[in-house]
Amino acid sequence: MEELKVYGGNPLIGELSVQGAKNSSLPLLAAAVLVKGKTVLHNCPRLRDVEIAFQIMRHLGCIVKREDDTVEIDSTTISCSEIPEVLMGEMRSSIVFLGAIVARTGMATVNFPGGCELGPRPIDLHLACLRQLGILIDEHNGILDCSIDKLKGSKITLSFPSVGATENAILAACTAEGETIITNAAAEPEIVDLACFLNRCGAKIYGAGEKTIVIQGVSRLQASEYRVIPDRIALVTWLCAGAITGGELLLKQIVPEHIEGVLPFLEQTGVKLLVDHHNIYLRSTGKLNAMSAIRTMPYPGFPTDAQPMMMALASKAAGTTVFVENIFENRYKHAVELTKMGADITLEGKVAVVEGVPTLSGARVRATDLRSGAALVVAGLAAEGITYISDPYHIDRGYEPIEETLCQLGAVMSRIK
Ligand code: EPZ
Repeated sequence: MEELKVYGGNPLIGELSVQGAKNSSLPLLAAAVLVKGKTVLHNCPRLRDVEIAFQIMRHLGCIVKREDDTVEIDSTTISCSEIPEVLMGEMRSSIVFLGAIVARTGMATVNFPGGCELGPRPIDLHLACLRQLGILIDEHNGILDCSIDKLKGSKITLSFPSVGATENAILAACTAEGETIITNAAAEPEIVDLACFLNRCGAKIYGAGEKTIVIQGVSRLQASEYRVIPDRIALVTWLCAGAITGGELLLKQIVPEHIEGVLPFLEQTGVKLLVDHHNIYLRSTGKLNAMSAIRTMPYPGFPTDAQPMMMALASKAAGTTVFVENIFENRYKHAVELTKMGADITLEGKVAVVEGVPTLSGARVRATDLRSGAALVVAGLAAEGITYISDPYHIDRGYEPIEETLCQLGAVMSRIK
């Protein structure tokens, strides 16, 4: 069984170029299945979830090659339209391949993605969007059999601005006949990245990043080359790590607008932040003030994915910080683990009340999901003593080897078998 071994007490100091975005890479890889030919993606991060996506694409018939951060996907021949259950279960977001596979091949067979981790992960909004575009979906024994006679543009209204459902709708609509209008669409930067790539391939997608997206269906798309945006959640992770350890960091190749919902809270802790077009400089004394109430919201509000790492930061910030998790039903599992390290956190449904403590203590804790694991790393870096984090494979889903990244900045940590 693997564990991360984290020695606390070392301020993080140095410069780091932030990895490409996991949550943009995955829909872009799905788009590479839709677009016939050779797609080249630059700045594609080396992550477990990306590897799972490669396995899905190879199963479909794509030839996928990686050279450093550049990935080439040849989807000229798609010989299969189903995703094996084991791969669907490995990565819930594999559902984002559904729209692309159906639009490319006219059919698809996938399993319901698993639930838990952050609460049930329903896909009702995904299926509603795809059905409105003319896709016939037969659900039986946890299997979805999809087929179409013709993809037709439609007016789609999302009851919630689901990121994945918006991506699925865009992927299915861009080669549909006629116009599609998506209202109450998700506006995350990853949606804009997907639309920019598809438009470079010849799609006609307007309004990505707004609440209403209009898509004029086109008959064919031309494979192209594209650079994935930087990972805004990895960026917040490193900022939290620098802040909690009393460090000094220069984070490069980033898009500051992507974390506009987070920066005001970081400033409230008392850290010094200097922001320009592509970089963020942070300097911290390690003495942190508590933050005003943090409510997770769809973009451009405070991102739910940043909540766990910010809670680790709040655990050591003098005063009370209240969190309200409005996006996922069960996204406080890290609170239980942080409490083992001496954090003072009270949970009440969607609300978590964090009373900052002067010191956290190293402990044996468990990564229960990707961002909870990242939160435990952040806390361990500032704890007194050694923190052992089991099940680090959760963290590997969204971060290039986290111990390598952080050791470059002066952390003392290792991965032990
Ligand atoms: C994406 O997940 C991200 N994953 C998540 O990041 C992120 O937390 C989430 O968006 C919100 O920003 C990827 O992009 C791969 P949603 P997604 O559909 O698309 C409910 C990480 O740590 N819902 O916007 O699954 C859902 O249960 C991951 O990097 C339905 O009810 O998120 C949740 O409560 C975690 N029915 C809420 O909407 C549906 O059909 C938001 O989900 C779909 C979603």
